[in-house]
Amino acid sequence: MVSYKELGLVNTRAMFAAAVKGGYAIPAFNFNTMEQMQAIVQAAVETKSPVIMQVSKGARNYANATILRYMAQGAVEYAKELGCAHPEIVLHLDHGDSFELCKDCIDMGFSSVMIDGSALPYEENIALTKKVVEYAHKYDVTVEAELGVLAGVEDEVASEVSHYTKPEEVIDFATRTGCDSLAISIGTSHGAYKFKPEQCTRDPKTGKLVPPPLAFDVLHEIEKKLPGFPIVLHGSSSVPQEEVDTINAYGGKLPDAVGIPEEQLREASKSAVCKINIDSDSRLAMTAAVRKYLAENPSHFDPRQYLKPARENMKKMYIHKIVDVLGSNDKLLQK
Ligand code: G3H
Ligand code: 13P
Ligand code: ZN
Repeated sequence: MVSYKELGLVNTRAMFAAAVKGGYAIPAFNFNTMEQMQAIVQAAVETKSPVIMQVSKGARNYANATILRYMAQGAVEYAKELGCAHPEIVLHLDHGDSFELCKDCIDMGFSSVMIDGSALPYEENIALTKKVVEYAHKYDVTVEAELGVLAGVEDEVASEVSHYTKPEEVIDFATRTGCDSLAISIGTSHGAYKFKPEQCTRDPKTGKLVPPPLAFDVLHEIEKKLPGFPIVLHGSSSVPQEEVDTINAYGGKLPDAVGIPEEQLREASKSAVCKINIDSDSRLAMTAAVRKYLAENPSHFDPRQYLKPARENMKKMYIHKIVDVLGSNDKLLQK
């Protein structure tokens, strides 16, 4: 058993309280590779932002859980080396689907876990979440739960449509589970195809898809029921058109990819939404840079040559999210 505190990581409690009060959101970036980790830390240090580095079950399978845990520990030391005296880095399990997985992460030094019981019947979601909360809180690890179902593939459960979180359930759910934050469904979804073309309109000038707005009425209803309670948005990549265009220009095929417009994420960040999950935008930034580099330099084969621009492009994207969308820059609690 290793405590995250020994690794220099922090849980989400204080940073969420400050974010809700201050009207900004903390970025939660998924990572699977060293380049993503480096880019996240560089971006957080340069912007003086707290940051959540999150690991999915798929990331554990790809990179190995122990390696990712040591990378997060390395992230703290790297941030210090880059000049940040008191880094505020959370190591979070994204979409934990069982008590055992959450326990394993807590025991190996994660400072925060998500237990995603959103596909379960209501009472089963409560029972599972409560069990994780009881274990996590013994070690001062914070717990994110989920109520409502996002459209798309979530936890290997595919849902054609999203089921918005029911505001009338949130008080009962939060009280009975004791969770520290709640992921809600208001129209976001995972991946680079968040909406079907038939759900969108087309901009007559550009021909690009314009998605329907998020259900801000549901968010505001939830905020009224649980004043000041930290809310989380999954599936919040904006799928930048320039990255999609670069990928398509250099041999990729991502027709009609569409994300959440950044104005809406900016608006959400000002509310009780205090954690915004971004994974797909990092994948797009990396893939666009690699495709472009290799197309322009067909004789190069040293991975460092094409991973360097990939890392730079991800870092640029992370900084943009922090500064221009979520507003978490200059928000370290301890200067
Ligand atoms: O919620 C989904 C995240 O983007 C993680 O995706 O399960 O493919 O690692 P993954
Ligand atoms: P995106 O696919 O929109 O990046 O969402 C990531 C996410 O919600 C991770 O849990
Ligand atoms: Zn998610």
